[in-house]
Amino acid sequence: MFKGAVAAWVASLGYPIYRYVQARKMAAPVPLRHVTLEGVAATLERGAGMVFQAGEHLGLLVHHADGEWVAFSALCTHLQCPVSYRQDLGQIVCPCHQGVFDPRTGTNVSGPPPKPLPRFSVELRGDDVFVDFEGAFAQAGETIRTASVP
Ligand code: FES
Repeated sequence: MFKGAVAAWVASLGYPIYRYVQARKMAAPVPLRHVTLEGVAATLERGAGMVFQAGEHLGLLVHHADGEWVAFSALCTHLQCPVSYRQDLGQIVCPCHQGVFDPRTGTNVSGPPPKPLPRFSVELRGDDVFVDFEGAFAQAGETIRTASVP
């Protein structure tokens, strides 16, 4: 009788903990694999760049003057400050400690950044720009309308 009461007491403590852990696992965000930037291929001029937010990713898209499109993580590899494309300099720059990156390859070229910006795959789909964060198309993604992109 006493053992049964102890078992019931242990179960009454353990079950809520089990449910809590299961709920946390189910609520864990799934990393975004790709994003479609609606209308951006038609509106981002040659020689210009833009920063976009997609899920946990802060990205930088550059449309070079020769028509090439490239995308990188927009978080500096030094201390994670947001970088931007300086059209007048033709460079990706970090304002925090004057880090500079090559806008074609993302290679760190001067300042304290210790490594290149992670590069994302880019594919034009009509007027949209499809950016793949992991190099593999498909999987869950989201669509960002041009109007909502800063
Ligand atoms: S955080 Fe970018 S250079 Fe320091």
